Amino acid sequence: GGSVPQRIEEKRRAALLGGGQSRIDAQHRRGKLTARERILLLLDPDSFDEYDMFVEHRCSDFGMDSSKNKYPGDSVVTGRGRINGRLAYVFSQDFTVFGGSLSGAHAQKICKVMDQAAMVGAPVIGLNDSGGARIQEGVESLAGYADIFLRNVLCSGLVPQISLIMGPCAGGAVYSPALTDFTFMVKDTSYLFITGPDVVKSVTNEDVTQEQLGGAKTHTAVSGVAHRAFENDIDALLNLREFFNYLPLSNRDPAPVCECHDPSDRLVPELDTIVPMESTKAYDMLDIIRSIVDEREFFEIMPSYARNIVVGFARMNGRTVGIVGNQPKVASGPFQPWPFWCLDINSSVKGARFVRFCDAFNIPLITFVDVPGFLPGTAQEYGGIIRHGAKLLFAFAEATVPKITVITRKAYGGAYDVMSSKHLRGDANYAWPTAEVAVMGAKGAVQIIFRGKETDAEAEYVDKFANPFPAAMRGFVDDIIQPSTTRMRICHDLDVLASKSQANPWKKHANIPL
Ligand code: COA
Repeated sequence: GGSVPQRIEEKRRAALLGGGQSRIDAQHRRGKLTARERILLLLDPDSFDEYDMFVEHRCSDFGMDSSKNKYPGDSVVTGRGRINGRLAYVFSQDFTVFGGSLSGAHAQKICKVMDQAAMVGAPVIGLNDSGGARIQEGVESLAGYADIFLRNVLCSGLVPQISLIMGPCAGGAVYSPALTDFTFMVKDTSYLFITGPDVVKSVTNEDVTQEQLGGAKTHTAVSGVAHRAFENDIDALLNLREFFNYLPLSNRDPAPVCECHDPSDRLVPELDTIVPMESTKAYDMLDIIRSIVDEREFFEIMPSYARNIVVGFARMNGRTVGIVGNQPKVASGPFQPWPFWCLDINSSVKGARFVRFCDAFNIPLITFVDVPGFLPGTAQEYGGIIRHGAKLLFAFAEATVPKITVITRKAYGGAYDVMSSKHLRGDANYAWPTAEVAVMGAKGAVQIIFRGKETDAEAEYVDKFANPFPAAMRGFVDDIIQPSTTRMRICHDLDVLASKSQANPWKKHANIPL
């Protein structure tokens, strides 16, 4: 009953309360914020325009059509807003309404914002907190998932898609985050798995907790399903805001340029001595990266997974750049200590996915190379290192964004070719004086070509190959630069390359070795 304005007001009030105060309190007791609180923290103040507050589920089985089982807005809050003034579309699943489970109506609301985001050209951010398919709706709910998956796929490479997992995400629900560009998790309160611990126990007889099976630690360090984990809801949302600033709104948009207070011609004297004299000694590639980028700010992606390669976003003279670097500090195999910080299966896949994101969204790539090759062994060969290493090669070769490469030390064998070499259309390729571009290390080389008989052959090999000249003499590196000038060189190159235009031959799509 009541007049129309009254009924509008009542419905709005009901929508704002979601599943009711006691369920909101339960959500808070778990250390989680509500769907609406999360949106308020994520978006700029007063910028949220909500859609579909009046949408209700349409299920009539199992008593679902009784008025006490209807919640205006159903189990998801959707709309658009601004993050530091830039447009974003969001959906935030409301665990207080049927456990955030996905009804047909819930899916429709998500599809609506995704369709508009694709049309307008703005990122989609999903805040996931859901008990999965709405059990009472059956196939209606499964259809809803598929509708979302299809849009995730069609939006891929068109607008950035980010998933933040803030509660349960299980069963078919996991495939939407998996299809998006970045998946972030909240420690202790979020988990992702195909089937939960009970099903696992009954099928494989494994005893495993929710946290072990699909918690933040598992997915950021072991499976590589998630790209970052944060301490709690607030920490995650604030980091998401910061992350958003690096991204273009769509593939039609250039990467954003921020005001920069860090001089582009700043010299970095400590880099002249950062690479140890002994070419077998480790150093931290992150030190090099941080000292070169604006204000030492580096948003690392997958910092706990395949740590023998470093990837992430930074700015150079205010421009967003994607950074890829081999990490001599971290051995990739069981061989301790040196020299096995090689490329392996996991680092190749991690690198390739990052490179492809940057290329899809016009973000220049800066690559720091110190790689003694690909990791040997049966584990790698049986695991398909050939196929997976090819992904990174493919990704760098295909990329048409500005590509700048700095060889800090080793660039050996096939791995030299792979790491954004001149031959793969690198735009500016530099070597530091410590660079060694060769087919392999001196010891191995001498053993093969002289069968270890020539005593002074190793010295000759080092003299010939363990330096930057062979590559520089052939123009495979454009210059041998003083390390302290690296920031300046890269900033100048990025200015020039801002107008780079390069296209690959027309095709339906390429066939990256999956
Ligand atoms: N469909 C319909 N309602 C659901 C639901 C679903 N998939 N998942 C949870 N709910 C409801 C619960 O019935 C409960 O309702 P209530 O508040 O009226 O009592 C509410 O959401 C909260 O769920 P609850 O089980 O009390 O929360 P929890 O934190 O203890 O557990 C889950 C959360 C997600 C682990 C648990 O609800 C679960 O296992 N859900 C089913 C998951 C599933 O199998 N989904 C289908 C396959 S994709």
